[in-house]
Amino acid sequence: MPTDMNTAKHYNANAEQYHQHVTNPSDSIFHSQYEKPAIRAELPNLEDLDVLSIGCGSGVDSRWLADNGARKVIGIDISSGLLDIAKRENPDISFLEMDMEKLDFPDESFDLAYSSLAIHYVDDWTPALKEARRVLRPHGTYVFSCGHPIDTAVEYTKDDQAKYAYLGRKIELETGKRTIFGDYLVVKDGGVKPIEGTLGDMEVVVYHRTFGKMIEQIRSAGFTIEKVVEPQPAPDMQQANPDMFEQLSRIPAFMIWVLKK
Ligand SMILES: C[S@@+](CC[C@H](N)C(=O)[O-])C[C@H]1O[C@@H](n2cnc3c(N)ncnc32)[C@H](O)[C@@H]1O
Repeated sequence: MPTDMNTAKHYNANAEQYHQHVTNPSDSIFHSQYEKPAIRAELPNLEDLDVLSIGCGSGVDSRWLADNGARKVIGIDISSGLLDIAKRENPDISFLEMDMEKLDFPDESFDLAYSSLAIHYVDDWTPALKEARRVLRPHGTYVFSCGHPIDTAVEYTKDDQAKYAYLGRKIELETGKRTIFGDYLVVKDGGVKPIEGTLGDMEVVVYHRTFGKMIEQIRSAGFTIEKVVEPQPAPDMQQANPDMFEQLSRIPAFMIWVLKK
């Protein structure tokens, strides 16, 4: 199933706000002090590489890729609102409205595919990965980040006092009664479980899948897995937000995959 309509609608309706968020490092520490340093550390030397930025949003990553040596960068996204900002801010880079499941490029057009926190919006990765593999040149690399399945498996609740995200069990001492929180293995709709409202108040639909499903879908697209990274937050987060630093040092939110054609 492709990206949920609500996700594209949300990004269009909140495009300027999203761009402000991702360009303010102290506001978006999940990006600036966690995911971006981790994914960038896995990139090859960009010199002489033609790069496709998949789910490019407002173009922040595409700018970084171009400024860090890539020969050519093309960004694609399904949100016309975010693409308008990307074009406005980066007139020297090409941005196209396109779905990652149907890339309108000839075979073997790019050396590197890059995608930051976008693939978890489609419920079966295989079609999107097959497309990325098709447009990569022989021995090309796909580096992408996504939600960590430990994080997407949790159960969200809230009361007047707090918000809770639980994965685990409660066993009552007297009766032995078990209460289970969260779903890691529950397989619905062909193996994935949509989770709504996981990103704060964002009205987007992210799909949970187990590690096993991720590996199965990557292999069925024909990629070889070169590396899997479960990143630690950057050291600067310890001072900027010690609570979040501790959380992310103990429980991952994102992960990075490095695949080879
Ligand atoms: C969390 S944002 C990340 C944007 C950018 N990579 C960044 O780090 O700022 C996820 C992006 O994925 C895009 N997206 C979701 N599903 C997509 C699809 N099927 N094809 C292309 N882009 C998609 C959304 O429109 C959104 O711009």
